Amino acid sequence: MCGIVGYVGFRDAVDVLIEGLRRLEYRGYDSAGVAVRTGDGLRELKRAGKLKALAEALAQSPLSGTVGIGHTRWATHGPPTDENAHPHRSGKLAIVHNGIIENYLELKRALLEKGYTFTSDTDTEVLAHLIAEHYRGDLEAALRAALAEARGAYAVVAMHQDEDVLVAARTVSPLVVGLGEGENFLASDVPALLPYTRRVVFLEDGEMAVVRREGVEVKDLAGNPRPLRVTEVDWSLEQAEKGGFPHYMLKEIMEQPWVLENTLGGRLDEAAGEVRLELPLDPGAFERIHVVAAGTAFYAGWVGKYLIEKLARLPVEAEIASEYRYRDPVVDGKTLFIAVSQSGETIDTLEALREARNRGAATLGVINVKGSSITREADATLYIHAGPEIGVASTKAYLAMLAAMVMLAVWLGRARGTLDPAEARVLLHEMRKLPRLAEAVLSRREAVKRVAAKYHQATDFLFLGRNLHAPTAFEGALKLKEISYIHAEAYPAGEMKHGPIALIDEHLPVVVVSPRGPWYEKTRSNIQEVRARGGRVIAVATDGDEAIREHAEEVLYIPEVHPLLSPILAVIPLQLLAYETAVLLGRDVDQPRNLAKSVTVE
Ligand code: G6P
Repeated sequence: MCGIVGYVGFRDAVDVLIEGLRRLEYRGYDSAGVAVRTGDGLRELKRAGKLKALAEALAQSPLSGTVGIGHTRWATHGPPTDENAHPHRSGKLAIVHNGIIENYLELKRALLEKGYTFTSDTDTEVLAHLIAEHYRGDLEAALRAALAEARGAYAVVAMHQDEDVLVAARTVSPLVVGLGEGENFLASDVPALLPYTRRVVFLEDGEMAVVRREGVEVKDLAGNPRPLRVTEVDWSLEQAEKGGFPHYMLKEIMEQPWVLENTLGGRLDEAAGEVRLELPLDPGAFERIHVVAAGTAFYAGWVGKYLIEKLARLPVEAEIASEYRYRDPVVDGKTLFIAVSQSGETIDTLEALREARNRGAATLGVINVKGSSITREADATLYIHAGPEIGVASTKAYLAMLAAMVMLAVWLGRARGTLDPAEARVLLHEMRKLPRLAEAVLSRREAVKRVAAKYHQATDFLFLGRNLHAPTAFEGALKLKEISYIHAEAYPAGEMKHGPIALIDEHLPVVVVSPRGPWYEKTRSNIQEVRARGGRVIAVATDGDEAIREHAEEVLYIPEVHPLLSPILAVIPLQLLAYETAVLLGRDVDQPRNLAKSVTVE
């Protein structure tokens, strides 16, 4: 996730760019940079670190012009250095980019053969050279030709020394045009535009914008004109920072399709049936794995245990970090210790990692926040690339962790020869569909709202799920507890008969996670057991499963997907259920009582 800004008009472009970047710093702050068309040709300045470092450098060596682009970075390809900061140049042109060009290695190889030289590790520099390669005096045509060869997610803005124009395009990553008088703007998000205009055009997937002082044209990627759909935004700045959503949590739930793109981007080699993780670990060197984490991250680790055991045939223990440390775990040089953490700072998880490392284990962090303590101390890090998560209750990081766990399981399975390439290809093919399928689940928010309206007065909830969906049930209960303060318990569905069944009466809503898969029939029997005792069942089921309606009062449907991937979709209705319930109860959704986003005390 990065923030991008563009300006063409009559003001000092640097002022507009810096002000815009300041409002987009929530999208990442690993480095920042600007490029401006000056009297002296195209010039750029960029710095690793926060925007402050760039502002200081600009005070020392000012740039002046009325056309420019700017960028604030959340590093994906290559560490946060001056070289890897955007804008990236190729001769007389410069670009800023948010997203991931998946086939950048192939493109880079071809460009190296043509004699281009590279000064950064980024996929963006590849795109800059590719546009330059196609440039024949028309930036718009060159960008179009380059994007026809690029695969992946992008919001990109390009400028050229010889043209008084900004050309932008988007697929997946967001981009908004701001309309002014004698000036026009581009930005990743509305807050950057609010000091100047409230008239905006939200570009859609597969659209380009040609932005000049005197006007803006929107086209598709083939160059056909598209209508200019102008929206008047009427947001407070605080609302705008939440992308127009009332809460960060909802914004983060709704951006999960993009998050999945980002987590998986550039890592799935479907043709070879391989996952490319570039981890400095020897997958053949381990006899056992310990996955350790806290809170939501622990439930992702639990899913990871089942996946790794299934695909890589290695024994895996998943454990809560605060327990692991003090129970004298059996760990040695043949153990791979995996710490799962959004923040990379949770002290229980960090201390557990230190314990395992001191006993000789190899350590791997599955982490969101770049440069955090766990990433510095672990032997290797697999970043989940979920972007900044601000809502205290974790949502998008959970989905990204699950996607990372699937990739790890495939990576280990392939390397250890327990997963054949054909089977891996099927799984990778299905993984590519996940962003689209997640979007489909989110489009059904109204159904969840109705369920929340019906049950939000309940004082207790029970959540049930089997096998891979036991963790889903636990995560659903945790979300509800955290933000609505309703008491919720979760059990593996098969365990219900050994105790919790005594709780069931006509007042108890029971959420049963039962998508199609090898455990479906058994879970359906559990639903019948609940019904027989008067319990009120809310089922999460697969599209087309009409039979489940006979036993459930409410059904929240998710699309069909490979059973090993279904935890990634099945949790989304539960996140929304917790959210809608908390809103109805008037709770402080983003900052629930007593909790902290990152807990650094034992
Ligand atoms: C806190 C948060 C939880 C989070 C847990 C682990 O308890 O309130 O939402 O799941 O820490 O955080 P981590 O940053 O390690 O994933």
